[in-house]
Amino acid sequence: MIIVIDGPAGSGKSSTAKEIANRLNIQFLDSGALYRAVTFYWITSEKPDIRSFIKLLPEVELSSEYKNRTFYVKLNGNDITDEIRTQRVAEHVSEVAMQPEVRAFVNRHMRNLVVNDVYIADGRDLGTAVFPDAQIKFYMTASIEERAKRRLKEMQQSDAEITLKDVMNNIRQRDQKDQSRASDPLKKADDAIEIDTTGKTFDEQISDMITIIETKIKLNH
Ligand code: DC
Repeated sequence: MIIVIDGPAGSGKSSTAKEIANRLNIQFLDSGALYRAVTFYWITSEKPDIRSFIKLLPEVELSSEYKNRTFYVKLNGNDITDEIRTQRVAEHVSEVAMQPEVRAFVNRHMRNLVVNDVYIADGRDLGTAVFPDAQIKFYMTASIEERAKRRLKEMQQSDAEITLKDVMNNIRQRDQKDQSRASDPLKKADDAIEIDTTGKTFDEQISDMITIIETKIKLNH
């Protein structure tokens, strides 16, 4: 079984999905982290041209695991969990994520993973393209100011120089790119439940979503 949460950058998808995973004792899958991992590989490889880099994908061994409230990502055996959260990766990730071959690569990893357990996953196109048959779909939104403030806190842990303005610009650009790319753009699935978190406390939003999940699961039994 899979529950998906899609939405724009900084809408609170990952922290929400993690909290729900912990409370319901299910697995968590962060699809953005996988795109960030491939992006990290690109910026540290010697292939500056993205189309030549794509040819390296068959050599990439990606693994991921959720434990102790952290989504760990390994690339060719090296733990890059912290490295994927930098501004440099954030600046390049949309370009990498728009490549159809990269999307196919990440989607394959995710579909293989979820067959063995119950998952809650977060991303941009999970309810529309990756898991169109997901049992429960959420689409989370929040104002751009609120999203940038949340991301700033997260990024300041690895980059003390970063400002709210930098983060807001990056989010605005990523929203635009994520929504307009040809390959599986960010879009609310017709059957997704929209959750606007602006002005809501984290606890309120989590309990609203858990109520929805429990009601839907009961109805399906
Ligand atoms: O959720 P995030 O901000 O860590 O995601 C990083 C980038 O990955 C985001 O700008 C767009 C891309 N992404 C995507 O294209 N499709 C997904 N399912 C998840 C993320």
